[in-house]
Amino acid sequence: MTFDTQLLNKSRQNLQTYDELWVFGYGSLIYKVDFDYIERRPANIYGYERRLWQGSSDHRGTIEKPGRVATLIPSNKTACFGMAYKVNPTVFEHLDHREKNGYLREEIEIEFISSPNVGQTVRGLVYMANPENKAFLGEASIDKLAIEIHTSRGPSGENKHYVYDLAESLREYGVNDEHILAVEQALRVLDSNIN
Ligand code: SIN
Repeated sequence: MTFDTQLLNKSRQNLQTYDELWVFGYGSLIYKVDFDYIERRPANIYGYERRLWQGSSDHRGTIEKPGRVATLIPSNKTACFGMAYKVNPTVFEHLDHREKNGYLREEIEIEFISSPNVGQTVRGLVYMANPENKAFLGEASIDKLAIEIHTSRGPSGENKHYVYDLAESLREYGVNDEHILAVEQALRVLDSNIN
């Protein structure tokens, strides 16, 4: 099911009053940077964990067979790693379109984790897809997630490459995200069974 959040997002914050602002990416926004940015820094947010629980009918699946992409669920367990980008507010025109299938812009505190800004925090925005959005698919076992992802593809490519690219980016930064790495592993098994 598609659910276009573009208009809703525009009414949530008036970004035109800013010269520049920060946006935090935790999924494809870490590795697929198809927008201009002024600066980018590895960062954490707190109070959330990454899960492949959001449906994608516009990027990694279709309306008939939605793929699965990342969203954030509330959690006090640990920090959630991502990439923070300082951008011109005009960039949100593109980002709102890219994230339109259920994601709402939320304000969040972002903590930089790389030198020389370790521990410094800024307010910024993050795209979250909450369980109320119509594209939300929700929880499933790792095996079920892997099977769904393995058999989905959409205009942005095969769903499994979303997970492979995300897992690779997380490894690059030494981040042990158990959920993403478990799904990646299950996908690799499915790959090896087919080949
Ligand atoms: C994000 O990357 O921050 C949002 C989810 C996605 O586009 O994969």
